[in-house]
Amino acid sequence: MEVIIAEDRDAVAQLVADAVCSLVDRRPAAVLGLATGSTPRPTYAELADRARLGLVSFERTRVFTLDEYLGLAPDDEHLYLNEIRARFTDPAGIPVERVHAPDSRPDDPDAECRAYEQQIRDAGGIDLQLLGIGRNGHVAYNEPTSSLASRTRVTTLTESSRRDIAGHFTPTPDHDSPVEPDANVPRDVITQGLGTILEARHVILMATGPHKADAVAAMVEGPVSAMIPASVLQFHPQTTVVVDEAAGAALQLADHYRYVQQHDVEQPDPFT
Ligand code: GLP
Repeated sequence: MEVIIAEDRDAVAQLVADAVCSLVDRRPAAVLGLATGSTPRPTYAELADRARLGLVSFERTRVFTLDEYLGLAPDDEHLYLNEIRARFTDPAGIPVERVHAPDSRPDDPDAECRAYEQQIRDAGGIDLQLLGIGRNGHVAYNEPTSSLASRTRVTTLTESSRRDIAGHFTPTPDHDSPVEPDANVPRDVITQGLGTILEARHVILMATGPHKADAVAAMVEGPVSAMIPASVLQFHPQTTVVVDEAAGAALQLADHYRYVQQHDVEQPDPFT
């Protein structure tokens, strides 16, 4: 697993935006998997800026979101699809026809999950999957004890995760400080599974802030365990973890990662 420790949140955003642009320059019809939450927002803002400035073209890029709240109305601003559209794909010029997300109000949720998996296969799979990580080590909405081979499915959020997102539904001065979730905070979601995520050709997991340090250390250096779902990425052949100093503070081998990073050991190109 490649680990990059960047100076701060902006440096993380620049590095990840560089990786996305490098892929899209080489493969204009690339299929991107996009995470939501606060961590990737600076990356999406940077990519939208670069598209506006003509520094990158997403005119053939296709997008799949990782997860979606169940039960919210299609025009609800909290929908992950609407967040991705507002923060990245609309300003970057990616039309909604090329932005795929699970339906938030499917007649048959299980059929919707199977159809979403088929859409990803029909697109040829995900070339680059961007991920964040929850405080409890979840990725997408694969909460602790999720099967490490799980597929796209309906899951129920832990109270820890509901507290973390409650700030989106009940505005607080600091999103990173958990608040008690009220009835407006969703309980059920559709999420891509860990087995689904492992099929992406390249995965970039981003983490910033001290509140992610323990989860990052556990997923990179700890045992593979369903209690830390992100640790399954230790089985993935091309995962890059990009953190700021605060999120990397608990890494035991930080000096080694910095040495490798500075000596720019080339990673195999997953697209050759
Ligand atoms: C939610 C999302 C994940 C995201 C995580 C962390 O669980 N489903 O995709 O990585 O929150 O969010 P944040 O980046 O806001 O800390």
